[in-house]
Amino acid sequence: MGGLATAGASLFGGVQILRFMFPAASSNAPALFKTSFSFLQLTGGVVGGKAETPVNVITDTANRVSVILDDAGIYAVLLICTHLGCTPNYVTDVVTGSGVAPSVADNRGIRTKAQQIPNGWACPCHGSRYFIDSTNFYGPAPRPMDWVNISVTPDGFFAVDRGTLVATRGAGDNTPPQWRLLVSTQKSNGKTYGV
Ligand code: FES
Repeated sequence: MGGLATAGASLFGGVQILRFMFPAASSNAPALFKTSFSFLQLTGGVVGGKAETPVNVITDTANRVSVILDDAGIYAVLLICTHLGCTPNYVTDVVTGSGVAPSVADNRGIRTKAQQIPNGWACPCHGSRYFIDSTNFYGPAPRPMDWVNISVTPDGFFAVDRGTLVATRGAGDNTPPQWRLLVSTQKSNGKTYGV
Protein backbone atom coordinates (compact mmCIF):
# COMPACT_ATOMS: atom_id res chain seq x y z
CA MET A 1 0.00 0.00 0.00
CA GLY A 2 2.80 2.33 1.03
CA GLY A 3 4.63 1.40 -2.14
CA LEU A 4 1.55 2.23 -4.19
CA ALA A 5 1.21 5.62 -2.53
CA THR A 6 4.89 6.33 -3.11
CA ALA A 7 4.59 5.32 -6.74
CA GLY A 8 1.52 7.54 -7.12
CA ALA A 9 3.31 10.47 -5.52
CA SER A 10 6.30 10.01 -7.80
CA LEU A 11 4.04 9.83 -10.84
CA PHE A 12 2.26 13.01 -9.74
CA GLY A 13 5.60 14.73 -9.16
CA GLY A 14 6.79 13.60 -12.56
CA VAL A 15 3.71 15.04 -14.24
CA GLN A 16 4.23 18.36 -12.45
CA ILE A 17 7.85 18.49 -13.59
CA LEU A 18 6.80 17.73 -17.15
CA ARG A 19 4.17 20.47 -16.95
CA PHE A 20 6.88 22.90 -15.87
CA MET A 21 9.20 21.81 -18.63
CA PHE A 22 6.56 21.72 -21.34
CA PRO A 23 3.85 24.23 -20.40
CA ALA A 24 0.52 24.16 -22.23
CA ALA A 25 1.22 25.97 -25.40
CA SER A 26 -1.23 24.64 -27.90
CA SER A 27 -3.61 26.97 -29.61
CA ASN A 28 -6.58 25.95 -31.67
CA ALA A 29 -6.54 29.27 -33.46
CA PRO A 30 -6.30 28.97 -37.25
CA ALA A 31 -3.12 30.09 -38.97
CA LEU A 32 -4.95 32.83 -40.85
CA PHE A 33 -7.43 35.00 -38.97
CA LYS A 34 -9.11 38.37 -39.17
CA THR A 35 -8.66 40.73 -36.24
CA SER A 36 -11.59 42.07 -34.25
CA PHE A 37 -10.00 45.53 -34.33
CA SER A 38 -9.67 47.68 -37.42
CA PHE A 39 -6.91 49.60 -39.15
CA LEU A 40 -8.75 52.75 -38.10
CA GLN A 41 -8.77 51.70 -34.44
CA LEU A 42 -5.00 51.08 -34.47
CA THR A 43 -4.05 54.22 -36.36
CA GLY A 44 -6.79 56.67 -35.42
CA GLY A 45 -6.91 57.58 -39.10
CA VAL A 46 -4.14 58.57 -41.48
CA VAL A 47 -3.28 62.19 -42.14
CA GLY A 48 -0.38 63.17 -44.37
CA GLY A 49 0.68 59.52 -44.58
CA LYS A 50 0.98 59.18 -40.79
CA ALA A 51 -1.22 57.66 -38.12
CA GLU A 52 -3.15 60.46 -36.48
CA THR A 53 -3.80 58.99 -33.03
CA PRO A 54 -1.86 55.73 -32.83
CA VAL A 55 -2.84 53.15 -30.24
CA ASN A 56 0.63 51.54 -30.57
CA VAL A 57 -0.18 48.01 -29.46
CA ILE A 58 -3.28 45.82 -29.60
CA THR A 59 -2.94 42.25 -28.37
CA ASP A 60 -5.16 39.35 -29.34
CA THR A 61 -4.27 36.84 -26.64
CA ALA A 62 -6.58 34.10 -27.93
CA ASN A 63 -4.84 34.16 -31.30
CA ARG A 64 -1.45 34.76 -29.70
CA VAL A 65 -0.55 37.86 -31.69
CA SER A 66 0.28 41.47 -30.82
CA VAL A 67 -0.09 44.11 -33.53
CA ILE A 68 2.29 47.02 -33.08
CA LEU A 69 2.30 50.44 -34.69
CA ASP A 70 5.52 52.45 -34.55
CA ASP A 71 6.96 55.34 -36.53
CA ALA A 72 7.91 53.03 -39.40
CA GLY A 73 4.59 51.20 -39.72
CA ILE A 74 2.76 48.12 -38.49
CA TYR A 75 4.02 44.65 -37.62
CA ALA A 76 2.67 41.56 -35.87
CA VAL A 77 4.55 39.50 -33.29
CA LEU A 78 3.67 35.85 -32.79
CA LEU A 79 3.32 35.41 -29.04
CA ILE A 80 4.99 32.05 -28.71
CA CYS A 81 7.81 32.19 -26.20
CA THR A 82 10.97 30.79 -27.76
CA HIS A 83 11.80 28.96 -24.53
CA LEU A 84 9.00 26.40 -24.21
CA GLY A 85 6.12 27.98 -26.05
CA CYS A 86 4.02 29.80 -23.44
CA THR A 87 2.14 32.98 -24.38
CA PRO A 88 4.02 36.07 -23.13
CA ASN A 89 1.89 38.93 -21.75
CA TYR A 90 2.14 42.44 -23.10
CA VAL A 91 3.35 44.86 -20.40
CA THR A 92 3.91 48.59 -20.53
CA ASP A 93 7.22 48.41 -18.65
CA VAL A 94 9.13 45.25 -19.39
CA VAL A 95 12.41 46.29 -17.80
CA THR A 96 11.25 47.21 -14.29
CA GLY A 97 11.08 44.15 -12.10
CA SER A 98 12.87 41.96 -14.59
CA GLY A 99 15.93 41.66 -12.41
CA VAL A 100 18.00 43.27 -15.14
CA ALA A 101 19.63 46.62 -14.48
CA PRO A 102 18.24 49.24 -16.88
CA SER A 103 21.77 49.80 -18.22
CA VAL A 104 21.99 46.12 -19.21
CA ALA A 105 18.65 46.30 -20.97
CA ASP A 106 19.73 49.53 -22.65
CA ASN A 107 22.80 47.85 -24.05
CA ARG A 108 20.90 44.89 -25.49
CA GLY A 109 20.21 45.26 -29.16
CA ILE A 110 20.88 48.09 -31.58
CA ARG A 111 18.91 51.01 -30.31
CA THR A 112 19.39 54.70 -29.93
CA LYS A 113 18.37 56.28 -26.64
CA ALA A 114 15.21 57.60 -28.31
CA GLN A 115 14.26 54.04 -29.21
CA GLN A 116 14.46 52.82 -25.62
CA ILE A 117 10.78 52.31 -25.11
CA PRO A 118 9.90 50.32 -22.03
CA ASN A 119 6.99 48.24 -23.29
CA GLY A 120 7.29 44.62 -24.39
CA TRP A 121 6.34 41.13 -23.23
CA ALA A 122 6.91 39.09 -20.09
CA CYS A 123 6.50 35.34 -20.18
CA PRO A 124 4.46 34.01 -17.24
CA CYS A 125 6.06 30.55 -17.29
CA HIS A 126 9.74 31.08 -16.54
CA GLY A 127 10.12 34.87 -16.69
CA SER A 128 11.63 35.59 -20.09
CA ARG A 129 11.34 39.22 -21.20
CA TYR A 130 11.20 40.68 -24.66
CA PHE A 131 11.52 44.23 -25.96
CA ILE A 132 8.77 45.61 -28.21
CA ASP A 133 10.70 44.54 -31.33
CA SER A 134 10.49 41.02 -29.79
CA THR A 135 14.19 40.80 -28.94
CA ASN A 136 14.70 38.63 -25.84
CA PHE A 137 16.83 40.26 -23.15
CA TYR A 138 16.23 38.28 -19.97
CA GLY A 139 15.37 34.77 -18.87
CA PRO A 140 15.74 31.40 -20.57
CA ALA A 141 14.27 32.34 -23.96
CA PRO A 142 17.05 31.56 -26.44
CA ARG A 143 16.08 33.93 -29.23
CA PRO A 144 13.61 36.67 -30.27
CA MET A 145 9.96 35.88 -31.02
CA ASP A 146 8.99 35.73 -34.69
CA TRP A 147 7.04 38.26 -36.72
CA VAL A 148 4.21 37.10 -38.96
CA ASN A 149 2.55 38.51 -42.03
CA ILE A 150 -0.22 41.08 -41.58
CA SER A 151 -2.29 42.86 -44.23
CA VAL A 152 -5.39 45.06 -44.38
CA THR A 153 -8.64 43.39 -45.41
CA PRO A 154 -11.00 45.03 -47.94
CA ASP A 155 -13.35 46.01 -45.10
CA GLY A 156 -10.61 47.71 -43.12
CA PHE A 157 -9.60 45.09 -40.56
CA PHE A 158 -6.39 43.04 -40.48
CA ALA A 159 -5.64 39.59 -41.82
CA VAL A 160 -2.87 37.98 -39.77
CA ASP A 161 -1.21 34.92 -41.24
CA ARG A 162 0.49 33.08 -38.40
CA GLY A 163 1.76 30.54 -40.91
CA THR A 164 3.88 33.07 -42.81
CA LEU A 165 6.93 34.50 -41.06
CA VAL A 166 8.26 37.86 -42.20
CA ALA A 167 11.08 38.07 -39.65
CA THR A 168 12.81 35.35 -37.68
CA ARG A 169 16.05 35.63 -35.74
CA GLY A 170 18.39 33.16 -34.16
CA ALA A 171 20.06 33.22 -30.76
CA GLY A 172 22.00 36.41 -30.12
CA ASP A 173 20.60 38.24 -33.15
CA ASN A 174 19.34 41.56 -31.81
CA THR A 175 18.88 43.23 -35.17
CA PRO A 176 15.56 45.08 -35.20
CA PRO A 177 13.62 43.75 -38.22
CA GLN A 178 12.68 46.36 -40.82
CA TRP A 179 9.56 44.68 -42.21
CA ARG A 180 6.45 46.87 -41.95
CA LEU A 181 2.95 47.20 -43.28
CA LEU A 182 3.07 50.83 -44.32
CA VAL A 183 0.42 53.11 -42.85
CA SER A 184 0.37 55.38 -45.89
CA THR A 185 -0.21 52.68 -48.53
CA GLN A 186 -1.47 49.72 -46.46
CA LYS A 187 1.12 47.63 -48.33
CA SER A 188 4.13 45.72 -47.07
CA ASN A 189 7.58 47.23 -47.58
CA GLY A 190 8.83 43.73 -48.42
CA LYS A 191 11.81 43.90 -46.04
CA THR A 192 11.65 40.38 -44.65
CA TYR A 193 14.41 39.12 -42.38
CA GLY A 194 15.75 35.60 -41.94
CA VAL A 195 12.98 33.90 -43.92
S1 FES B 1 8.10 29.30 -21.81
FE1 FES B 1 9.74 29.43 -20.42
S2 FES B 1 10.13 31.55 -20.28
FE2 FES B 1 8.51 31.42 -21.68
